[in-house]
Amino acid sequence: MNLKNKYGDYALITGASSGIGESFARRLAELGMNLVLIARRKERLDNLKREIQSKYNVDIINIELDLTEENIIEKISKHIENIEIGILVNNAGYGSTGYFHSNNPKNEAQMVKLNCVVPTILTHHFIRPMVEKRKGAVIFLGSVVAVQPTPLMSTYSATKVFNAYLGESLWYEMKRYNVDVLNVNPGGTVTEFQRVANVTTGPFARRPEQVVETALNALGKKPSVIDGFPNKTTLLLSKILPKKLVLNLTGKVVETIYKKGNS
Ligand SMILES: NC(=O)c1ccc[n+]([C@@H]2O[C@H](COP(=O)([O-])OP(=O)(O)OC[C@H]3O[C@@H](n4cnc5c(N)ncnc54)[C@H](OP(=O)(O)O)[C@@H]3O)[C@@H](O)[C@H]2O)c1
Repeated sequence: MNLKNKYGDYALITGASSGIGESFARRLAELGMNLVLIARRKERLDNLKREIQSKYNVDIINIELDLTEENIIEKISKHIENIEIGILVNNAGYGSTGYFHSNNPKNEAQMVKLNCVVPTILTHHFIRPMVEKRKGAVIFLGSVVAVQPTPLMSTYSATKVFNAYLGESLWYEMKRYNVDVLNVNPGGTVTEFQRVANVTTGPFARRPEQVVETALNALGKKPSVIDGFPNKTTLLLSKILPKKLVLNLTGKVVETIYKKGNS
């Protein structure tokens, strides 16, 4: 797939300093895309840029930014004047695990901002030129917890429904403008997510490279994709079983992987 011809020269990836975002950066560079990488940890972005440019002849612009700050569009725009974004990967995000009433409310609210408000602002800004050019792509990171409500990850689960519904609805709206939109739902994937959310990956751990491959294979073909066969099968069950049973089973599973602590 010639992504540059199809979508444009640059891909912007939020949360590119680790995990799935880092894998998107490596793979998109391998496929010839120039990159705009955003995260708070500058050193990690700088190392990734050096590593990628030692292998591929691509331009990379690193932006050290906390996306929960105000005026992020202005802050990003300063670094990318005259650059048009062909692929936007709304990847930056984190989760929390625990009983809702015991969780830190500031952390929960900040999560809603990063996981939901930020992709809304970025997508609105970068999709308008795509609509004008009739060319572009936007990828949202949903999750398996967006497909079924997930006790002990209640706020996180709700933020991922937001991503999934926004992405899937935009898939329809954008079809007529030749802009591809995809929501990708990974299950437990080995990244820094587990340390941040204090949870293990669960039984069907996937690698971030697999999630990226699943996403790129589905982009332009469907509105939404679940990563990995075991995740697909489990979620199918949750669609046919009664909600009460699904919630009880899911709650028990998360209690187990939460109590075990970090993977
Ligand atoms: N891993 C899983 O099991 C899993 C499953 C389903 C969905 N997902 C989703 O996949 C996406 C990527 O997560 P991951 O698993 O790759 O986790 P990760 O390794 O923890 O990566 C999260 C990325 O987001 C960035 N980030 C966090 N807060 C930020 C902020 N305030 N401003 C800017 N960047 C910020 C982090 O960079 P800095 O810390 O350097 O800022 C990091 O690059 C998330 O949306 C997550 O919800 C993950």
